[in-house]
Amino acid sequence: MARKKFVCGNWKMHKTVAESVALVKELKAALVGVAGEVQVAVAPPFTALKPVADALGHGGPIELAAQDVHFEKQGAFTGEVSAPMLADVCCGHCLVGHSERRQLFGETDESVNKKVKALLAAGILPIVCVGETLAQREAGETLAMVGRQVRGGLAGLSAEQIGRLTVAYEPVWAIGTGKTATTAQAQEVHAAIRGLLRELAGGVADSVRIQYGGSVKPENAAELMSQPDVDGALVGGASLKADDFSKIVKGAI
Ligand code: G3H
Repeated sequence: MARKKFVCGNWKMHKTVAESVALVKELKAALVGVAGEVQVAVAPPFTALKPVADALGHGGPIELAAQDVHFEKQGAFTGEVSAPMLADVCCGHCLVGHSERRQLFGETDESVNKKVKALLAAGILPIVCVGETLAQREAGETLAMVGRQVRGGLAGLSAEQIGRLTVAYEPVWAIGTGKTATTAQAQEVHAAIRGLLRELAGGVADSVRIQYGGSVKPENAAELMSQPDVDGALVGGASLKADDFSKIVKGAI
């Protein structure tokens, strides 16, 4: 089944408001005509979400994503941002369970699951991130680890709900290191994730996009995304430059 490729730029903790707006303006110009063929989103830091939403405009070719969310709607949760608040600034997507959140901020499969449900309830499409560490890969535990994260993150979801999300496979050892998974390594894990989604959601699995993330660059993007189960990319460092990111998006066509 043909799945439209989906490329998302995760800006992490980079860019002031002015820098963010300048970057999306450059991207809009660089991606004229392309976004009909590839779905494109950017995930700026919280402070830049509203200004970037305004710069992108409604229904524009580039969509807006957040990098994280809290699972409660509101309340005494200092420092947190809720799904309805993200919807309020026109965020259509949100990353959940990025490895940096898991490793540095105590994110668990259980909190990922609560966040996914909160996002879906608010009409925001989750991008659920999974991936193994180098030690887990070397111990032959990659598929078991990724399987646990997918099952845990998606626990209790209906097939219809699973059909609304994206999974991002990001081997932790490939993030920001310059080391990319080989196309064969990526395809193996993506196919296993697709198989698991089929178990959980039947035929809906064929429409779920599975992005690859981890040192995606203009030089390797097209080859990675040519794999049958690699349906796009979650791009960190290379999404901070309009030229690199637009080349990666074009590599999806
Ligand atoms: O969310 C993006 C990933 O963490 C990949 O980051 O492209 O800088 O390796 P990277």
